[in-house]
Amino acid sequence: MQKLEWDDSYATGFAALDEEHKMLFGFINDLRETLLGRKGKEVIEKVLEGLLDYTNGHFFNEEILLYKLHYPEYYAHKAAHEKFLSEVRGYYVTFKAGDADSKLISAEITAVVTEWLQEHIMKVDKAYVPFLKSKGVR
Ligand SMILES: [Fe+2]
Ligand SMILES: [Fe+2]
Repeated sequence: MQKLEWDDSYATGFAALDEEHKMLFGFINDLRETLLGRKGKEVIEKVLEGLLDYTNGHFFNEEILLYKLHYPEYYAHKAAHEKFLSEVRGYYVTFKAGDADSKLISAEITAVVTEWLQEHIMKVDKAYVPFLKSKGVR
């Protein structure tokens, strides 16, 4: 799988949110590295925990901002975040329980989160850009 490279096509134009998205790219690349480097279960676990934690924080930041400004798609956006989190948490539990081959499951997680994040930023996050701009957010 390709390393996730940040470029301007991902930019929402809101510096704080873009920084958080870049951090998420970083976590996903770290996860990918742990796979390529044949790192142990503990390292993968740490990276996954970091990813879950950071994602949770980022989703909160977005949701608070969108809620505060009465974004019309707020609930749909929040639901997309929740679905993703619950999916990754599910993987994490399986992984942690040792119920699956850790290499296989971490490869699967990496593929799923990579694709999800790219798609979410490009379509769902970018959809709030005109709205936030119209509300004077910079
Ligand atoms: Fe986002
Ligand atoms: Fe989002």
